[in-house]
Amino acid sequence: MIDLSGKVALVTGSSRGIGRACALRLAEAGADIIVNFVTSGREADAVAAEIAALGRRVACVRADVSQEEDVDDMIGFVRESFGRLDVLVHNAATGGFRPLAATSQRHFDAAMHTNVLSLVHLLKSATPLLEVGPARGKVVVLSSHGTHMALPMYGLIGGTKAALTSLARHWALELGDRGVNVNIVEAGLVETDSTRRLPGAAEMFAGRTTKTMVGQRQLEATDVADAVLFLSSPLSDLVQGQTLVVDGGAAIHI
Ligand SMILES: NC(=O)c1ccc[n+]([C@@H]2O[C@H](COP(=O)([O-])OP(=O)(O)OC[C@H]3O[C@@H](n4cnc5c(N)ncnc54)[C@H](OP(=O)(O)O)[C@@H]3O)[C@@H](O)[C@H]2O)c1
Repeated sequence: MIDLSGKVALVTGSSRGIGRACALRLAEAGADIIVNFVTSGREADAVAAEIAALGRRVACVRADVSQEEDVDDMIGFVRESFGRLDVLVHNAATGGFRPLAATSQRHFDAAMHTNVLSLVHLLKSATPLLEVGPARGKVVVLSSHGTHMALPMYGLIGGTKAALTSLARHWALELGDRGVNVNIVEAGLVETDSTRRLPGAAEMFAGRTTKTMVGQRQLEATDVADAVLFLSSPLSDLVQGQTLVVDGGAAIHI
């Protein structure tokens, strides 16, 4: 069993969706949690209440991960209030679903800053906490099939996820000998607030089991969180710079 008692985990974008599931799963495993959000304060408070009910220490921090100052303030708060950081799950993302031909510079900059540059802000700020031994620090980054597949209306987000995945591998190279693991979870389609806005979402959700190889079981945020938990634990100490695909086998099915 994975036991993260005494550890502290920060999950970016954990007010909703997959981030929320990750925060709860890490708390169930014993970790104290920092819930990060940018607009959904009420939802973040509700997640924090669930975590507190598990007997864990929890704090909500409003920080826009695309902004270096916000990230520095958030990590400073973690240092002062919790005194350590063992796990960083970078889940927050934005982008909007539209054709690339309708993508403006403003859309591009917002998605690149929130989904990609954020990892630079986060790890520049958090590495001094994550690298403190003896246990290895853990960074888990949420990515998607858009890194290597072409999906309708997904060009901008897919492009940012490809960049994010590459960046995560390079962070693994830079931080591995300093006691930090950086790995990636690539999730298949999960029904969340964001994917419900995808054009044709209902048909996509309904058609998921034709490509997966796990019977009628549908991929849920909690399945993704289970993979994140593994990569946040000492069981994955020798897994470095890798992508763990959690999609029920959909990506290898012709
Ligand atoms: N859902 C899927 O099918 C799927 C598949 C593969 C990969 N993923 C990846 O999994 C992650 C979560 O996806 P999701 O579907 O759960 O997303 P979601 O429901 O849209 O939730 C996004 C979360 O990110 C936060 N966020 C957005 N911009 C932020 C910013 N600038 N600073 C801080 N927090 C910010 C949001 O906070 P507020 O609530 O405060 O706005 C929210 O908590 C993303 O990285 C996504 O690309 C999702």
